[in-house]
Amino acid sequence: MKLTFSVVALAVSLAEGARAQCPDFTTYSQSPQGNPSSGPLKLPYMRPSPGPSSSSTPSTEKVIVDMKARLKDPDIARLFENTFPNTLDTTVKYFNSFATYVPLLSVDPSLATLMKAVINNEARYVSQYPYCGSFQPPPESGLAPSLNSHAVGVTVNPPVNNQTVFECKYEIDSLCGFLKLSRSYYGATKDASFMNDNWYAAVNQIFRVINEQSQGSFDANFNFISYYNWTGGNGALSPAVDNGGNGEPKAYTGMVGTHHRPSDDLSVFAFLTPANAMLSVELSHLNDILTQSGQAKSGQGKNISTQATTWSKRVSDAVWANTLVDNIFAYETNGLGSRYVMDDANTHPAYVATRKVLLSRGNPYFAQGKNFSGAGGPHVDAWHPWPMSQISAIYGTDDDEEILNRLYLIANNTAGLGLIHESQSIYSSTDYTRSWFAWANSYFAEMVLDLAQRKPGLIFRNDTAYTPGQ
Ligand SMILES: *[C@@H]1O[C@H](CO)[C@@H](O)[C@H](O)[C@H]1NC(C)=O
Ligand SMILES: *[C@@H]1O[C@H](CO)[C@@H](O)[C@H](O)[C@H]1NC(C)=O
Ligand SMILES: *[C@@H]1O[C@H](CO)[C@@H](O)[C@H](O)[C@H]1NC(C)=O
Ligand SMILES: *[C@@H]1O[C@H](CO)[C@@H](O)[C@H](O)[C@H]1NC(C)=O
Ligand SMILES: *[C@@H]1O[C@H](CO)[C@@H](O)[C@H](O)[C@H]1NC(C)=O
Ligand SMILES: *[C@@H]1O[C@H](CO)[C@@H](O)[C@H](O)[C@H]1NC(C)=O
Repeated sequence: MKLTFSVVALAVSLAEGARAQCPDFTTYSQSPQGNPSSGPLKLPYMRPSPGPSSSSTPSTEKVIVDMKARLKDPDIARLFENTFPNTLDTTVKYFNSFATYVPLLSVDPSLATLMKAVINNEARYVSQYPYCGSFQPPPESGLAPSLNSHAVGVTVNPPVNNQTVFECKYEIDSLCGFLKLSRSYYGATKDASFMNDNWYAAVNQIFRVINEQSQGSFDANFNFISYYNWTGGNGALSPAVDNGGNGEPKAYTGMVGTHHRPSDDLSVFAFLTPANAMLSVELSHLNDILTQSGQAKSGQGKNISTQATTWSKRVSDAVWANTLVDNIFAYETNGLGSRYVMDDANTHPAYVATRKVLLSRGNPYFAQGKNFSGAGGPHVDAWHPWPMSQISAIYGTDDDEEILNRLYLIANNTAGLGLIHESQSIYSSTDYTRSWFAWANSYFAEMVLDLAQRKPGLIFRNDTAYTPGQ
């Protein structure tokens, strides 16, 4: 799922001297560790200390101190303290999780250096394997590649080298994540030095994928067109994929097809609406950073800027023309009239009407029980919604009571472990998947920081807003 690789490995290779052997966070996160918080939930302190693997810096520690001084509920403060540094504290890193630290880049050169290294490293992978989303540790780390049992017996084309690629599922979302990190870094630092040949090679490969995956399955003479196929089956968690690993046929619309959803599930239809919306937005930002940095004036920057502008509009026009019926966005379409309305909530749903459906019986993957509720997906099953869907819902509302309800629904359902799970049963607080899910943890911390600006009075002792790094 997502562009993943070991950032600690990267940090180790950047840092002076070797670091100690780190505890395995997956095991660590399965039982309560430090002292409980003083609130009714008694949530444990869950940071591996003193943190041999931590890439945490004085500026990230200051955010924790500042927030703890302000948050009025010690349980929410403890959740923030555990979740905010989680990506920097733990070994396996999720690319998306870095968004949480963007506000600190302008004041913390060491974090900025780390993020630039992440971008350079990702550019290297994307330029080589734009269809893949999960990679082995970078060679500089000296860490050995690990065998992915879920990739055994799965055929993927174009073929990949398993010493570099951990798994080659294709998700538009991963490519958007790379573009988003690049523009977030530029926005915070105004440093364009990452826009080197390596980075341009990656961006060119992204446009290659956009061109290839926007095409219909058949050409005018009914030749079947396939640039990428992934068979699933054997060791894969996904069943065998029909049509030779291509999935359901699609027609040209102007949208870009994906093979998998951000949740790792196979798409039913290729044109995933939220991913295309995000792609259109990120391509428009790509043009912005090229323009602001002066790169759009000539050379490859000019070429990329033109393509970005063209595709941003094309994708956006196609989303409006093809996915909307009765004011509800379909989740997936195929350009041939088939639609699938649901949301597996790993994405920000765009509009109010759609959101209402997503958090209701109108979404086949919405479920509500005595313990928990939210939107899920077939990745786990219909009665284990994602806590991330509740986080998204908090972003989507201005209603104080609703925000607090959702916040405490999440806080009440960590099984006493003080970290955010991947999925949570609606029937039982002790039934969940992944005690610790890096992406969900950073998303939670990001949401609390958003409330710190948007609704300080709701969560703080007083009504003064707080922005990290200021
Ligand atoms: C890579 O593939 C080869 C051949 O299938 C297999 O023997 C080997 O264990 C794999 N290595 C890794 C790290 O996945
Ligand atoms: C799979 O993709 C490759 C290109 O990467 C293509 O040559 C091949 O024909 C495709 N196979 C199928 C069954 O679609
Ligand atoms: C822009 O790049 C694409 C491929 O990346 C290439 O096909 C095209 O010729 C380039 N256009 C210009 C004007 O350089
Ligand atoms: C969370 O749990 C507390 C009891 O600890 C309860 O009072 C509250 O209603 C619960 N909130 C939600 C939204 O489930
Ligand atoms: C949730 O589930 C647990 C374990 O199944 C149960 O003991 C508990 O009472 C439930 N809590 C709520 C708020 O329903
Ligand atoms: C609110 O609390 C913060 C942190 O304790 C403090 O710096 C700020 O001055 C307070 N604002 C008001 C208006 O009291």
